[in-house]
Amino acid sequence: MKKVHIKTYGCQMNVYDSGKMAESLAVLGYAETATPDDADLVILNTCHIREKAAEKVYSELGRLRDLRAEKKQQGGDLVIGVAGCVAQAEGAEMLRRAPYVDMVFGPQTYHRLPELLAQAQRAQDLATGRGRGVLDTEFPLESKFDSLPEPQGASSATAFLTVQEGCDKFCSFCVVPYTRGAEFSRPAADVLKEARQLVQRGAKEITLLGQNVNAYHGADGAGEWGLGRLIRELADIDGVQRIRYMTSHPRDMDADLIAAHGDVPQLMPFLHLPVQSGSDRMLAAMNRKHTTAQYLEVIERLRAARPDLAFSSDFIVGHPGETDADFQATLRLVETVGYAQAYSFMYSPRPGTPAAVQDDQIPDDMKKARLAALQDLLNTQQVRFNQTHVGQKIPVLIESTGKKPGQLVGRTPHMQSVHLDGPSRLVGGIVDVDITAGYANSLQGRIQLVAEVA
Ligand code: SAH
Ligand code: SF4
Ligand code: F3S
Repeated sequence: MKKVHIKTYGCQMNVYDSGKMAESLAVLGYAETATPDDADLVILNTCHIREKAAEKVYSELGRLRDLRAEKKQQGGDLVIGVAGCVAQAEGAEMLRRAPYVDMVFGPQTYHRLPELLAQAQRAQDLATGRGRGVLDTEFPLESKFDSLPEPQGASSATAFLTVQEGCDKFCSFCVVPYTRGAEFSRPAADVLKEARQLVQRGAKEITLLGQNVNAYHGADGAGEWGLGRLIRELADIDGVQRIRYMTSHPRDMDADLIAAHGDVPQLMPFLHLPVQSGSDRMLAAMNRKHTTAQYLEVIERLRAARPDLAFSSDFIVGHPGETDADFQATLRLVETVGYAQAYSFMYSPRPGTPAAVQDDQIPDDMKKARLAALQDLLNTQQVRFNQTHVGQKIPVLIESTGKKPGQLVGRTPHMQSVHLDGPSRLVGGIVDVDITAGYANSLQGRIQLVAEVA
């Protein structure tokens, strides 16, 4: 049996896509392997969001070229493919910079992977030495979702389900509208069918994914559904115990979706709602299309619907033009909201985006200092949030065994990781856990096992 190793960078949507690539390759007889060393095919599913993410790909490609040389010496071979957002953004340039790559294809064309693989293998057979790389990064007219194989095998307890892709918002700093293309929603019936399959295969928690997931507007024949309606229907499927969705844009948080947080018990009380900055001047420069007051109002309405709702966000420091006063406004917004968790990044200029060519770029040392100050505050909030759970009994979905024998790792409704001791048969189930300690990135817990009758 042939083996494929898929290495995934970037966001959850790439994780979902890698899963789908693996399923289409399984049909061709490829089994997945955890390392490139024993693989016949390696695919890097790449991320273009920040410069560092994109540069990692080229160093990894260098290692794969060497690995292939070794394999060839031993009479073997290795096909190298690059997928995802770097492939989409830099496809042709990538084939020049790394001409030994066999296939380059984007996030909207991986349904053609079997065909591309055949083409790459043909090109390789005909040429002397390595063949030319096959490039497939034109946005197709058809949707990849219509030609992916039926999923097989078991699902993990927590599963991702892409319902929306692409972005029409064009924030000043962001490559996503260029790499993923225009916004589109999958039909509601297709999403619900995939959700039923996931539950049958063992999923307990489903996270609906999209670059702008709350812009979801999937047709069902009789009209369009918003994300709120989709979540309500999803909750009616037997066996769906937990529902989450990400990533949302503050502007697309409509009344029905907000109400769903109060009405749907399976919808978990944790929401990733990125704001990027707490300065209205910066939000305008970023083309975010909302103000801090509007963001805070959305948070207030969500909390009114579901009082225990906890929030996370993304922040960018050092966007072109950001003054110290703008940055202080971000710190104030963080104080006002009180986050359970958050991601923060130094602005990274990206080719093709409007902010990258602005002449008021912020020096690196200033970005670093602002990031450190912001992360200090966010960490303090995160520890505080985690510690409020100490002493409580919380339902934890056990996701996997831990690093050491006898350890388990799971997640609370608020997305906190919990470490505890317990038998591996609990993996995939939801158990009540007494929380004994709270740290910056996780909780410690204990379960009372009822003695088993032999
Ligand atoms: N669709 C989501 C974000 C997708 S990108 C949204 O609208 O919020 C994930 C995060 O990466 C963004 O929220 C942003 O904080 C960060 N990011 C995007 N472009 C960036 C850049 N050029 N430099 C630094 N961080 C960036
Ligand atoms: Fe990027 Fe903005 Fe679209 Fe989010 S909303 S994906 S940050 S352009
Ligand atoms: Fe990265 Fe593309 Fe996701 S740029 S964050 S992999 S949409």
